[in-house]
Amino acid sequence: MQTKSFKGRDFLAETDFTREEIDTILSVAEDLKKDRARGDYHDHLLRSKTLFMIFYNQSLRTRNSFEAGMTQLGGHAHYLDPSKIYTPAMEGREVAYSTERVSDVARVLDRMGDAIAIRCYGDPVDWEYGGAHAMLEEFARWCDIPVLNMEDDVYHPFQGLADVLTVKEKFGGFKGVKFTMSWAYSPSVHKPRAVPQSAILYAAMMGMEVTLAHPKGMELDPKILTQCKEYADAQGGSFQVTDDFKGAMEGAHVVYPKAWCATPIFQPPVGTSDAIETQAIFDRHKDWICNKEIMDIADKNAIYMHCLPCDRGYEVTNDVIDKTKGKGWLSAAFDEAENRLHVQKAVMSLVM
Ligand code: CP
Repeated sequence: MQTKSFKGRDFLAETDFTREEIDTILSVAEDLKKDRARGDYHDHLLRSKTLFMIFYNQSLRTRNSFEAGMTQLGGHAHYLDPSKIYTPAMEGREVAYSTERVSDVARVLDRMGDAIAIRCYGDPVDWEYGGAHAMLEEFARWCDIPVLNMEDDVYHPFQGLADVLTVKEKFGGFKGVKFTMSWAYSPSVHKPRAVPQSAILYAAMMGMEVTLAHPKGMELDPKILTQCKEYADAQGGSFQVTDDFKGAMEGAHVVYPKAWCATPIFQPPVGTSDAIETQAIFDRHKDWICNKEIMDIADKNAIYMHCLPCDRGYEVTNDVIDKTKGKGWLSAAFDEAENRLHVQKAVMSLVM
């Protein structure tokens, strides 16, 4: 187990950490989860420490798991609404007296607290793919305290960590687990790609048999796909991409169908002919929905996963997401949501 060199490190992408380090984080998360189940407090771990959380976007799970997590570790989390502070902006994108340069915000918060966590994707960076991740890197460049990625336009590393912890709990490990990440239909085309990208990166890093399924036109970042292939080769797993929704589900142990938007959406302004073509691709694939028929062709002990929030009736039917008990395949979506708390507490206690 890797036990050194976590202190002070940023958590911007899963690729910043080795497989051994991720195993350590999962192991610490399991310990903290057991403590909580036993009613044992661990509020000495981050006593009197402060996490600043800047949310450019909405959140239920991320905000509350970080905030509750800091309370349970003995510290405090401040919620910062960018519209109520001087909105942190990259150099060249500043607006007089309504924004403040990221380098200035980062250095000020660095003097007052112990970590900065940021969520940013989509509208705040005009859907310019990579723009939000670059902003998080800029924060990290200007402060010594850890910067944590609460979802940007490329990665959602804490969601991915919760996903692999859930798989580990349900299957006892990763070897031979068939992990299918699939695009699914949603009436909203404005869905970031960070969740599927982080999910396949971690699944490949853990050595699972990974299948990525999506209609043509919904491709993910080619750099992420290359990294998945490298992880699969290094860890003895596999990685394949298909446009066959049902084929990808056959025998799958993990069924993870989720809408994301395609490359053209990331080329502003939204509403161009490219974006209209994207809408057409969505509309042609309304049958990419996770229903009972899909779960029945997966492994008999398969789990349904979704980062939430999900679009019920479009991405998934109620009888799938709500089947959390009983025989056969089950929904693990709420276990997965809970695991956000435990993995984030693990990372915070290690890096802060
Ligand atoms: N899965 C997730 O990140 O949820 P929130 O958008 O509610 O934070």
